[in-house]
Amino acid sequence: MRFHRSLSRLLPLLGLGCVAGAQFSDVPSLENFYRRGGASATMIGNYVYFDGGEVSQALDGKAPGEHTTRPVNSTISIDISKSWTTSDVVLRTIDRPWSSKINQVIWTNYDAAVFYVWAGRWFGGNNMTANELWKFTPDSSGGGSWALETPANPELLDGLEQAEYMVFANDNDTGFAIGGVANGWTRKGRLSDQAIPGMVAFAMKTKSWYNLIAGLSPILQADTLAAGAGHYIPNFGPSGLIMALGGVSHPVDAAVNWDTARAYDFRNLTFFDPQTRQTYWQRTTGDIPPSPRSQFCLAGFQNSEGGYEMIVMGGYDHRDKILYKDTYILSLPGFVWITAPDSPTGARRTPACVSVGNRQLLMIGGTAVGGWENKDTAPQGLALFDMTEMKWKDSYDANAAV
Ligand SMILES: *[C@@H]1O[C@H](CO)[C@@H](O)[C@H](O)[C@H]1NC(C)=O
Ligand SMILES: *[C@@H]1O[C@H](CO)[C@@H](O)[C@H](O)[C@H]1NC(C)=O
Ligand SMILES: *[C@@H]1O[C@H](CO)[C@@H](O)[C@H](O)[C@H]1NC(C)=O
Ligand SMILES: *[C@@H]1O[C@H](CO)[C@@H](O)[C@H](O)[C@H]1NC(C)=O
Repeated sequence: MRFHRSLSRLLPLLGLGCVAGAQFSDVPSLENFYRRGGASATMIGNYVYFDGGEVSQALDGKAPGEHTTRPVNSTISIDISKSWTTSDVVLRTIDRPWSSKINQVIWTNYDAAVFYVWAGRWFGGNNMTANELWKFTPDSSGGGSWALETPANPELLDGLEQAEYMVFANDNDTGFAIGGVANGWTRKGRLSDQAIPGMVAFAMKTKSWYNLIAGLSPILQADTLAAGAGHYIPNFGPSGLIMALGGVSHPVDAAVNWDTARAYDFRNLTFFDPQTRQTYWQRTTGDIPPSPRSQFCLAGFQNSEGGYEMIVMGGYDHRDKILYKDTYILSLPGFVWITAPDSPTGARRTPACVSVGNRQLLMIGGTAVGGWENKDTAPQGLALFDMTEMKWKDSYDANAAV
């Protein structure tokens, strides 16, 4: 944002500053930025990309309460080949050809160096289109372009219910999206809220969609899942493992009620082999994160001993109305949870998280008590956690060792 800040200092000198009135921005200045939430994030090459969600900001000296939160209209990238602080990081905007969505599924094909977004909720139910899968192809400098990905079996995609709060993950071949909640803002004309059972899969090489309904769906059988986190662990088992943590299960045959939904705990974890679809479960020990916990974020790291570590931060307990600021790390193969320091930037829900620079978690956004009108103490809504130093930071180190 260096460029934007110096430009905004220059404009008044040129007498241009207030003539046209200020504009809302997907990337407000540090001073104007309040909150960001509901985005979906990934990393390809030297860039983190995030898409969708909402942003609140001050404008013309007016707090966001006077003009509400706004949809984020572009995809945003961050260069991680260089070190930065959360106050001087450059957030680059890239045009996106559809109206903004919230809580989208994001799948990354590392072999082809592309990522996909699907489903989610339309901001305000505006400009809703048919069920579509969008593919982003990055260039090598933090930009890139979006295109519709035509499925091999369009009838199947047409018939799938788009939902928000789906739990998603992918291996190198297939994207999986479990459960979620559908409502009038996920599909035009939908009359009621409903928990979606089962699991959907998209095979990235053949572009085929699969509807793995009850019975065929690992992890869930006839159950539902919403607002938990999915994760692919590449280095366990012959083809890696896909894990689903936290979230809640709403009954399929009743109205969605987050306050009474049954919680998935963090003590007994279920996961499946993405190739064989065989399901497994494992009990964990240590400092088990409290649940119910929905709308938290999760990122993972391979460690130098051949193990794997997952970090969980924040989230919300709808039943007891607790907004979490705590952080936990689960180490594999031991399946032991340990408590990490709380985030100094406070409790939050719907942040996006991605692992960057060998051993750092990048947290992107999240809303707190007071919602969009509570100004985030994290500059631009960003914070980092260093897995080696076990410390929250406001700077990213591009040269951090493994
Ligand atoms: C995104 O576009 C909508 C529709 O044009 C607009 O109302 C909104 O202010 C834009 N969002 C931002 C953050 O500028
Ligand atoms: C909906 O689409 C119209 C026409 O393309 C555009 O002018 C408008 O800004 C869009 N609204 C939102 C909220 O994106
Ligand atoms: C997935 O792709 C990445 C990047 O090409 C590669 O390093 C990794 O080994 C692949 N993983 C599996 C399980 O095939
Ligand atoms: C863990 O959950 C699975 C279902 O995914 C269940 O079959 C198993 O009995 C549970 N284990 C324990 C110890 O509760």
